[in-house]
Amino acid sequence: MLDAAPKAPYHLVQTGTGDGVAETKIENLDEAAARAELKALSAALARANDAYHTQDAPEISDAEYDRLKRRNTAIEQRFPHLKRADSPTDQVGAPVAEGFSKVAHEKRMLSLGNAFSDEDVAEFDRSVRKYLGLAPEAPLTFTAEPKIDGLSLSLRYEAGRLIHAATRGDGSVGENVTANARTIADIPQTLTDAPDVLEVRGEVYMHHDDFAALNARQAAAGDKVFANPRNAAAGSLRQLDASITEGRPLRFFAYGWGVVSAPLAETQKDALDRLAALGFSINPLTMRCTGPEMLLDHYRAIEAQRATLGYDIDGVVYKVDSLAYQDRLGLRSTTPRWAIAHKFPAELAWTRLEAIDIQVGRTGALSPVARLAPVTVGGVVVSNATLHNEDYIAGRDANGLPIRDGKDIRVGDWVQVYRAGDVIPKLADVDLARRPAEAQPFVFPQTCPRCGSDAPREPGDAVRRCSGGLICPAQAVEKLKHFVSRAAFDIEGLGAKQVEQFAEDGWIAEPADIFTLRSRFGAGLQQLKNRDGWGEKSADNLFAAIDDKRRIPLDRLLFSLGIRHIGEAASKLLARHFGSWEALSLAVDAAAADPDAMEVFLSIDGIGAVMADALVTTLTQEAERASIDRLLTQLDVQPVVASQAADSPLAGKTVVFTGNLEKMTRAEAKARAEALGAKVAGSVSKRTDLVVAGPGAGSKAAKAEALGIDTLDEEGWLALIGAS
Ligand code: IVH
Repeated sequence: MLDAAPKAPYHLVQTGTGDGVAETKIENLDEAAARAELKALSAALARANDAYHTQDAPEISDAEYDRLKRRNTAIEQRFPHLKRADSPTDQVGAPVAEGFSKVAHEKRMLSLGNAFSDEDVAEFDRSVRKYLGLAPEAPLTFTAEPKIDGLSLSLRYEAGRLIHAATRGDGSVGENVTANARTIADIPQTLTDAPDVLEVRGEVYMHHDDFAALNARQAAAGDKVFANPRNAAAGSLRQLDASITEGRPLRFFAYGWGVVSAPLAETQKDALDRLAALGFSINPLTMRCTGPEMLLDHYRAIEAQRATLGYDIDGVVYKVDSLAYQDRLGLRSTTPRWAIAHKFPAELAWTRLEAIDIQVGRTGALSPVARLAPVTVGGVVVSNATLHNEDYIAGRDANGLPIRDGKDIRVGDWVQVYRAGDVIPKLADVDLARRPAEAQPFVFPQTCPRCGSDAPREPGDAVRRCSGGLICPAQAVEKLKHFVSRAAFDIEGLGAKQVEQFAEDGWIAEPADIFTLRSRFGAGLQQLKNRDGWGEKSADNLFAAIDDKRRIPLDRLLFSLGIRHIGEAASKLLARHFGSWEALSLAVDAAAADPDAMEVFLSIDGIGAVMADALVTTLTQEAERASIDRLLTQLDVQPVVASQAADSPLAGKTVVFTGNLEKMTRAEAKARAEALGAKVAGSVSKRTDLVVAGPGAGSKAAKAEALGIDTLDEEGWLALIGAS
């Protein structure tokens, strides 16, 4: 969707093919030249395969790849006896790289929530206060520092020695890039007077002038040039050969820490100063601020210097300064409550809308996509943007009120594009003065462009949906792509591209087919082997990666099914509540037979009626259920054990809070209970295990008593969770 391109101020350099192969007419080649060229071609193709399949960063175009292969074949046909043992003709697939070993992060590496406006920043301050129970006038200090546009790295030191360095990966497991990190001058190899175990976290990045010089060198050598400093930093750190990283001018700013055997300090700022004293680079624009106004002043000061810093930043990060408060605030699912990234405003650009395509998503949603004349926005060439739905194109919002002053969007229009953060580009405006006279209002299709089924729009739904269900090939492929995605089955070597290829070939039509690939193709690997990009080794690796995922936690399985409204968080809640697929499906069947039985879903805090309906409707569709049953025969579904839950007194318990708590806010109490494996419900029923009643508790406490449910006051609750 986004095509990488150099940011405007950098030198534009032509990408070389990297093959270095001279084109002599085949009939004019002598044996020595042919031998040399076959060698060069073999190396060039191996490298192209590696770039494409292993690095996910194609270095040459498909056309160029094909040209090299054709030439190789032609030379081999003229000189059959010169055919190499490692001839590319025989090695169709990618040589599967050893890759990096994996490192499990003892403490997850987090991402950050975003703020885009002054109001969002004020809201951050309010929400922190609310969670901590601090009055508006009570002091609350933050730090503010630039958000570096690089990639995060975790450095583990034991007894003062760097023992490993790992990328963020999915937050839980990253790649071991220790050898590469050791080549970065900003990263100390040894520390004096550091805690026995210390994980330092920060951002690897590249200076603008180093980036320009690197690209110039790459171009001169006919090697890949990088789109921007962040890609260059990522590409350089993730080199399997550390000697290559060594030649790349990477830098590192420390901004935090993971596991520490002894606290670094009592505040964020003091902890950073401690890291600086240990020898790490800390961003010099880091500042302690006493409230939202001061945060915003510092944000504007940083923004004013952005162009002259010499490296890319994309916002300012605010963190609660007190580490005791940080501890209490804890995390949402992947982001801390105590920090937020205030992003710089999106960049804008005008371009022409060349076409409107309709894509069909996994739940059948027809999504219009703008095809744009390519334009650079914030350093990236954009040629697609989302158009949301038919109302949006027509200039109306979901309530029928005008957007863009009611201006519709037509093919041929000049439109203003923007990107905010990493999100898909959007359109901000349309220029009616430049609208071509012949431009026609866009007519939104009423049928699915892929399978022709009706695509009705249900009342209250903003989008049209293809009614073809499993017969719609577009929906089926999107479902499969979701199934293998990172938060779902995450099968190594089976990404969106491979799924598309396999589906197109008719090898997989539904998730269960992935798990029968080996039995259907394993015996004669021939078919897979003959596919472009697949060799015997990569096929074997794929089968092993698939087998690896046959054991799957229930929450992942649920999420992977791609049921509308059932995202990762809902899947976790359901998995934790029901424990097994059998228990969940019994509840689904009961709810389908008797609407009252829906209550079992609604009693789960965080599961609403829309989710429960979607779950029951989807799982009781015959074809869908049959497809899931086929999948289940291939899997070993693992019950979900809540974190810390096993030996926690609250594991698996349903807790209700009522009345006022004085030592902790309701939000904090709920988060603590959940972290200990409990479910928090809003109302008391016979399924409630424990009621925590503060002063002012009314009917809920009375009901608990009537039902004979254990009730604790706040002191008892604090003692139970070990916080008194
Ligand atoms: S703090 C719990 N501080 O931004 C806090 N992150 O969107 C974790 N980043 O993955 C991050 N500069 O790679 C923090 N000064 C800074 C940062 C920063 C850049 C990156 C980091 C993180 C991402 C989150």
